[in-house]
Amino acid sequence: MNARGAARVAVIGGGQNCEHDVSLASASAVADALETAGYAVVRLTIERDGGWRHGAGGCPADLADAVHVLRTCDVAVPVLHGPRGEDGALAALCELAGVPYVGSGVLAGALAMDKWATKLVAADLGIATAPGVLLTPSTAPGYRWTRPVVVKPVAAGSSQGVTLVESPGELPQALDGAFALDRRVLVEDVVAGREVDVAVLGRPDGSRTVAPALEIVVDGLFDFATKYGGAADFRIPAELADTERKELEDAAVAMFDALGCAGVARVDFFLTAAGPVLNEVNTMPGFTEQSQVPKMFAAAGVSYADLLDLLVRDVIG
Ligand SMILES: Nc1ncnc2c1ncn2[C@@H]1O[C@H](COP(=O)(O)OP(=O)(O)O)[C@@H](O)[C@H]1O
Ligand SMILES: [Mg+2]
Repeated sequence: MNARGAARVAVIGGGQNCEHDVSLASASAVADALETAGYAVVRLTIERDGGWRHGAGGCPADLADAVHVLRTCDVAVPVLHGPRGEDGALAALCELAGVPYVGSGVLAGALAMDKWATKLVAADLGIATAPGVLLTPSTAPGYRWTRPVVVKPVAAGSSQGVTLVESPGELPQALDGAFALDRRVLVEDVVAGREVDVAVLGRPDGSRTVAPALEIVVDGLFDFATKYGGAADFRIPAELADTERKELEDAAVAMFDALGCAGVARVDFFLTAAGPVLNEVNTMPGFTEQSQVPKMFAAAGVSYADLLDLLVRDVIG
């Protein structure tokens, strides 16, 4: 607490991966909203090279300084997407530093970041995912293209390194792009279906709230340019039959619980003629006010500021 009794909240953004800028946008929106709500906000940024910056002016700091600052805070809000952030790395740092934090813990972050591990968990729950094979640099040369596929890094985000491969000639470049971001690459069958995202909020009392689902209307892949170019067409609530909505919500909550998520997670599906097919789980989804999760909760009557306040209060009690 500071002198006026406001809780000190560390908002961490940036990160050492291809989603650095996306995270900065989320973190600055989160920090601004929490500051407006009366919290004493401490802004921490992880640079692309792993260095830290502290405060609105961005004073350079190292990891030891950052841990020291974190320890002066009542709670941390890690707003990092992607590897070395959303994958449990930042949760681990908070755990070791003894700082309570918003969102998923080490294991949930790591499992959800790994699209292959996510498939294995989903399969055990009877939740469909796109059939796929896992390639490494040594097995990739033996892969033979027989039909259109989606090539993607096992752990990345913002559609970076994700390519639809419709002819064998396009494969080498797609593999290069995915291997540039991860040592493991998934080659998945193309799923034909509507893209529907479901946000799950887990409260400390064990209750689960599912916000109205969001449909992303896209022509082709929901790629980086569409995600951040302002052209994304979000429909909230997604137009769903009751049975479809229930299947999606049940699958989203089952994944949230099986992975052991906390706080809020966005569970992304393709809704096909045969029912929901899980695409991925994001334990730290995009968090500007215009991002999917805040928009879904706004549709449920929970404002951006109230959603953040609730996430913080659920941790500091
Ligand atoms: N198997 C698939 N079939 C059809 N489209 C896919 C498939 N996998 C991914 N996509 C498309 O590519 C986009 C990005 O892929 P995704 O796996 O969600 O990566 P990211 O973690 O970067 O968001 C999805 O939103 C979807 O539009
Ligand atoms: Mg995605």
